Amino acid sequence: MPTGVPIEFARLTKSFGNVDAVSDLTLTVEPGQVTGFLGPNGAGKTTTLRMLLGLVQPSSGTATFGGTPYARLASPLATVGASLEAASFHPGRSAHNHLAVYAQAAGLPKTAPAAALEKVGLADYGSRRVGGYSLGMRQRLGLAFALLGDPAVLVLDEPINGLDPEGIKWIRLLLRAMAAEGRTVLISSHLLSEVQQTVDDVIIISHGKLVHRGELSSLDVSDSKQVQVNADDRERLAEVIHAAGYTVSNLRSGILVDNAEAAEIGRLAFDAGIAVTALSQKRTGLEESFLTLVGEEGSL
Ligand SMILES: Nc1ncnc2c1ncn2[C@@H]1O[C@H](COP(=O)(O)OP(=O)(O)OP(=O)(O)O)[C@@H](O)[C@H]1O
Ligand SMILES: [Mg+2]
Repeated sequence: MPTGVPIEFARLTKSFGNVDAVSDLTLTVEPGQVTGFLGPNGAGKTTTLRMLLGLVQPSSGTATFGGTPYARLASPLATVGASLEAASFHPGRSAHNHLAVYAQAAGLPKTAPAAALEKVGLADYGSRRVGGYSLGMRQRLGLAFALLGDPAVLVLDEPINGLDPEGIKWIRLLLRAMAAEGRTVLISSHLLSEVQQTVDDVIIISHGKLVHRGELSSLDVSDSKQVQVNADDRERLAEVIHAAGYTVSNLRSGILVDNAEAAEIGRLAFDAGIAVTALSQKRTGLEESFLTLVGEEGSL
């Protein structure tokens, strides 16, 4: 198996008329880990991946595999496996037949299609017409196509879309195993929660621009901490907390205290002789951090 090659974007830019789909994107995607390429709908993810795969000409800048653009790779299918959104397969042909056409054109072994179908759990369905495939099965077929040449780099656009929980678990294990073998794995998604358990590293773009790059843990900023608390004498509880200098607001199910630790609020209530009926800490979750970064309204 060839070892992973880094993916390099250098000042990559693409405008469609007056829409700046991708602006001045510079970053490297390292082998040996799963990198999530995240951003809301229309952020420029697919456009970036299409430029990487030589399907769209950049307005300026470059997208390469260790310095080599896709079009100049000596054996593209063995270097890069890619699956872009809603790959179109001819409905009347079988999955095996589809893969065989590509495998033959790329000079891959005759056994490659069956091996790829086996890897994605479609071994028993290879001779079926693709027209009868479910969305999840088509996703798996897209992945089989990507895996056909046993590539060192995997580039997958929204691979989790359409998979059921079982399928999500399966793809997570597969991608992690591929990365552990030293391959470069880049997957896009518009939902952080969808890939949260699959990725090591995240790249977040919004309106074509890089807004965050780092380990997944770097996102969990947790700097806005709130405490939700309640007591039978809610008014007195609010007074006591307010008197201690906290900002409080009323919820239907209690009182919300900004910038507070549950232990401290519990102690204040205890010292005032108030028995609390509920006490919990709320932290900013990953998804809220993500929404804040991409400039959308987060919900509590
Ligand atoms: N061929 C095109 N012609 C004109 N505008 C385009 C074209 N392709 C993409 N765009 C625009 O570029 C921007 C980025 O689109 P892109 O498809 O790359 O986003 P995305 O992050 O993949 O979104 P999604 O999550 O919906 O798949 C959008 O404003 C889109 O309308
Ligand atoms: Mg897209």
